[in-house]
Amino acid sequence: MLVFSLIAVAFSSVFVHVLATSCTRTYTVQIGDICDSISAANNVSTYQLAVVNPEINHDCTNLLPGQQLCLGHSGTDCTTTYVVKPNDDCNIVSSAYNINATVLSHNNPQLNADCSNMYIGEVLCVAGAVTVSPPEGQPPATNIPAIATPAKPYHTGSPDHHDDGDDDDLPWCD
Ligand SMILES: *[C@@H]1O[C@H](CO)[C@@H](O)[C@H](O)[C@H]1NC(C)=O
Ligand SMILES: *[C@@H]1O[C@H](CO)[C@@H](O)[C@H](O)[C@H]1NC(C)=O
Repeated sequence: MLVFSLIAVAFSSVFVHVLATSCTRTYTVQIGDICDSISAANNVSTYQLAVVNPEINHDCTNLLPGQQLCLGHSGTDCTTTYVVKPNDDCNIVSSAYNINATVLSHNNPQLNADCSNMYIGEVLCVAGAVTVSPPEGQPPATNIPAIATPAKPYHTGSPDHHDDGDDDDLPWCD
Protein backbone atom coordinates (compact mmCIF):
# COMPACT_ATOMS: atom_id res chain seq x y z
CA MET A 1 0.00 0.00 0.00
CA LEU A 2 2.81 2.41 0.93
CA VAL A 3 4.63 1.49 -2.25
CA PHE A 4 1.53 2.22 -4.33
CA SER A 5 1.07 5.60 -2.62
CA LEU A 6 4.68 6.59 -3.24
CA ILE A 7 4.42 5.59 -6.88
CA ALA A 8 1.16 7.55 -7.18
CA VAL A 9 2.74 10.68 -5.69
CA ALA A 10 5.79 10.43 -7.94
CA PHE A 11 3.61 9.82 -10.99
CA SER A 12 1.31 12.73 -10.26
CA SER A 13 4.10 15.25 -9.70
CA VAL A 14 5.71 14.31 -13.00
CA PHE A 15 2.44 14.84 -14.84
CA VAL A 16 0.98 17.66 -12.77
CA HIS A 17 1.31 20.21 -15.58
CA VAL A 18 -0.21 17.89 -18.14
CA LEU A 19 -3.17 17.17 -15.85
CA ALA A 20 -3.62 20.82 -14.89
CA THR A 21 -4.13 21.87 -18.49
CA SER A 22 -7.03 19.47 -18.97
CA CYS A 23 -8.77 20.14 -15.64
CA THR A 24 -12.14 21.78 -16.11
CA ARG A 25 -12.41 22.56 -12.38
CA THR A 26 -9.98 22.63 -9.48
CA TYR A 27 -10.34 22.77 -5.70
CA THR A 28 -7.93 23.66 -2.91
CA VAL A 29 -8.17 21.33 0.10
CA GLN A 30 -9.28 23.04 3.34
CA ILE A 31 -8.67 21.86 6.90
CA GLY A 32 -11.30 19.28 7.87
CA ASP A 33 -12.18 18.25 4.32
CA ILE A 34 -12.86 14.63 3.51
CA CYS A 35 -13.19 13.34 -0.04
CA ASP A 36 -16.96 12.93 0.05
CA SER A 37 -17.54 16.39 1.54
CA ILE A 38 -15.48 17.88 -1.29
CA SER A 39 -17.45 15.77 -3.78
CA ALA A 40 -20.86 16.72 -2.39
CA ALA A 41 -20.05 20.44 -2.22
CA ASN A 42 -18.65 20.55 -5.75
CA ASN A 43 -20.90 18.15 -7.66
CA VAL A 44 -18.13 15.72 -8.43
CA SER A 45 -18.72 12.02 -7.96
CA THR A 46 -16.78 9.92 -5.46
CA TYR A 47 -15.37 7.84 -8.33
CA GLN A 48 -14.41 10.81 -10.50
CA LEU A 49 -12.59 12.58 -7.65
CA ALA A 50 -10.59 9.41 -7.05
CA VAL A 51 -9.82 8.65 -10.68
CA VAL A 52 -8.61 12.14 -11.60
CA ASN A 53 -6.50 12.42 -8.42
CA PRO A 54 -4.59 9.13 -8.23
CA GLU A 55 -2.38 10.59 -5.49
CA ILE A 56 -5.32 10.36 -3.06
CA ASN A 57 -5.18 7.00 -1.28
CA HIS A 58 -8.14 4.59 -1.22
CA ASP A 59 -9.27 5.62 2.26
CA CYS A 60 -8.69 9.32 1.50
CA THR A 61 -6.51 9.78 4.57
CA ASN A 62 -3.68 11.68 2.86
CA LEU A 63 -5.36 14.99 1.91
CA LEU A 64 -3.26 18.00 2.83
CA PRO A 65 -4.67 21.50 3.41
CA GLY A 66 -3.60 23.68 0.50
CA GLN A 67 -3.32 20.72 -1.86
CA GLN A 68 -4.75 21.46 -5.29
CA LEU A 69 -7.17 18.84 -6.63
CA CYS A 70 -8.47 18.44 -10.15
CA LEU A 71 -12.23 17.88 -10.09
CA GLY A 72 -12.77 16.81 -13.67
CA HIS A 73 -11.18 16.50 -17.09
CA SER A 74 -12.55 18.10 -20.21
CA GLY A 75 -14.89 15.72 -22.02
CA THR A 76 -15.25 13.30 -19.11
CA ASP A 77 -16.42 15.68 -16.38
CA CYS A 78 -19.74 14.56 -14.90
CA THR A 79 -21.39 17.48 -13.08
CA THR A 80 -24.81 15.91 -12.49
CA THR A 81 -24.45 14.24 -9.12
CA TYR A 82 -26.50 12.78 -6.29
CA VAL A 83 -25.57 12.19 -2.64
CA VAL A 84 -26.71 8.75 -1.40
CA LYS A 85 -29.28 8.75 1.40
CA PRO A 86 -30.28 5.93 3.80
CA ASN A 87 -32.18 3.07 2.08
CA ASP A 88 -31.15 4.10 -1.44
CA ASP A 89 -30.17 1.40 -3.89
CA CYS A 90 -29.23 1.35 -7.58
CA ASN A 91 -32.86 0.96 -8.72
CA ILE A 92 -34.07 3.88 -6.65
CA VAL A 93 -31.31 6.16 -7.95
CA SER A 94 -31.71 5.00 -11.58
CA SER A 95 -35.44 5.61 -11.60
CA ALA A 96 -35.16 8.96 -9.82
CA TYR A 97 -32.88 10.21 -12.58
CA ASN A 98 -34.49 8.21 -15.39
CA ILE A 99 -31.25 6.47 -16.34
CA ASN A 100 -30.65 2.77 -16.87
CA ALA A 101 -28.44 0.44 -14.88
CA THR A 102 -25.80 0.34 -17.63
CA VAL A 103 -25.24 4.09 -17.57
CA LEU A 104 -25.28 4.22 -13.76
CA SER A 105 -22.72 1.44 -13.59
CA HIS A 106 -20.43 2.93 -16.27
CA ASN A 107 -20.36 6.27 -14.53
CA ASN A 108 -19.93 4.73 -11.07
CA PRO A 109 -17.80 1.62 -11.68
CA GLN A 110 -17.04 1.23 -7.97
CA LEU A 111 -20.61 0.01 -7.36
CA ASN A 112 -20.78 -3.77 -7.19
CA ALA A 113 -23.35 -5.84 -9.10
CA ASP A 114 -25.94 -6.07 -6.32
CA CYS A 115 -25.29 -2.48 -5.22
CA SER A 116 -24.65 -3.61 -1.65
CA ASN A 117 -21.57 -1.40 -1.34
CA MET A 118 -23.49 1.85 -1.93
CA TYR A 119 -23.00 3.95 1.19
CA ILE A 120 -24.62 6.97 2.81
CA GLY A 121 -22.89 10.16 1.68
CA GLU A 122 -21.34 8.57 -1.42
CA VAL A 123 -21.61 10.92 -4.39
CA LEU A 124 -22.83 9.33 -7.62
CA CYS A 125 -22.70 10.58 -11.19
CA VAL A 126 -26.31 10.47 -12.39
CA ALA A 127 -25.82 11.92 -15.87
CA GLY A 128 -28.12 10.51 -18.53
CA ALA A 129 -25.29 9.46 -20.82
CA VAL A 130 -21.87 7.94 -20.26
CA THR A 131 -19.44 10.73 -19.46
CA VAL A 132 -16.85 9.37 -17.06
CA SER A 133 -13.64 7.67 -18.22
CA PRO A 134 -13.29 4.01 -17.38
CA PRO A 135 -10.64 3.27 -14.75
CA GLU A 136 -7.06 3.14 -16.01
CA GLY A 137 -4.63 0.84 -14.29
CA GLN A 138 -5.93 -0.23 -10.91
CA PRO A 139 -9.69 -0.86 -10.72
CA PRO A 140 -11.61 1.45 -8.39
CA ALA A 141 -11.88 0.52 -4.72
CA THR A 142 -15.23 -1.15 -4.05
CA ASN A 143 -15.00 -1.30 -0.27
CA ILE A 144 -17.22 0.86 1.90
CA PRO A 145 -14.97 3.37 3.72
CA ALA A 146 -14.39 2.49 7.38
CA ILE A 147 -16.25 5.60 8.56
CA ALA A 148 -19.25 5.14 6.22
CA THR A 149 -22.57 3.29 6.61
CA PRO A 150 -24.10 1.12 3.85
CA ALA A 151 -27.21 2.70 2.31
CA LYS A 152 -29.23 -0.50 2.75
CA PRO A 153 -29.10 -2.16 6.16
CA TYR A 154 -27.85 -5.73 5.92
CA HIS A 155 -30.49 -8.41 6.41
CA THR A 156 -29.35 -11.58 8.14
CA GLY A 157 -32.53 -13.56 7.50
CA SER A 158 -34.16 -12.79 10.83
CA PRO A 159 -36.22 -9.68 11.56
CA ASP A 160 -33.88 -6.98 12.79
CA HIS A 161 -36.50 -5.20 14.83
CA HIS A 162 -38.68 -6.81 17.47
CA ASP A 163 -41.76 -4.97 18.65
CA ASP A 164 -43.43 -7.75 20.55
CA GLY A 165 -45.17 -5.63 23.15
CA ASP A 166 -42.98 -7.14 25.83
CA ASP A 167 -43.08 -4.79 28.82
CA ASP A 168 -40.47 -6.56 30.94
CA ASP A 169 -38.37 -3.47 31.26
CA LEU A 170 -41.13 -1.02 32.14
CA PRO A 171 -40.39 0.13 35.71
CA TRP A 172 -44.02 -0.02 36.90
CA CYS A 173 -44.49 -3.68 35.96
CA ASP A 174 -42.37 -5.29 38.70
C1 LIG B 1 -24.51 21.42 -7.67
O1 LIG B 1 -25.70 20.99 -8.31
C2 LIG B 1 -26.86 21.55 -7.72
C3 LIG B 1 -28.06 20.90 -8.39
O2 LIG B 1 -27.97 21.01 -9.78
C4 LIG B 1 -26.82 23.07 -7.89
O3 LIG B 1 -27.95 23.64 -7.28
C5 LIG B 1 -25.56 23.61 -7.21
O4 LIG B 1 -25.45 24.99 -7.44
C6 LIG B 1 -24.33 22.91 -7.76
N1 LIG B 1 -23.16 23.32 -6.97
C7 LIG B 1 -21.99 23.60 -7.54
C8 LIG B 1 -20.90 24.01 -6.61
O5 LIG B 1 -21.80 23.52 -8.74
C1 LIG C 1 -29.14 2.86 -21.47
O1 LIG C 1 -29.26 4.23 -21.78
C2 LIG C 1 -28.32 4.68 -22.74
C3 LIG C 1 -28.43 6.19 -22.84
O2 LIG C 1 -29.76 6.59 -22.99
C4 LIG C 1 -28.59 3.96 -24.06
O3 LIG C 1 -27.66 4.38 -25.03
C5 LIG C 1 -28.48 2.46 -23.84
O4 LIG C 1 -28.82 1.78 -25.02
C6 LIG C 1 -29.36 2.02 -22.71
N1 LIG C 1 -29.07 0.61 -22.41
C7 LIG C 1 -30.01 -0.28 -22.14
C8 LIG C 1 -29.53 -1.66 -21.83
O5 LIG C 1 -31.21 0.00 -22.13
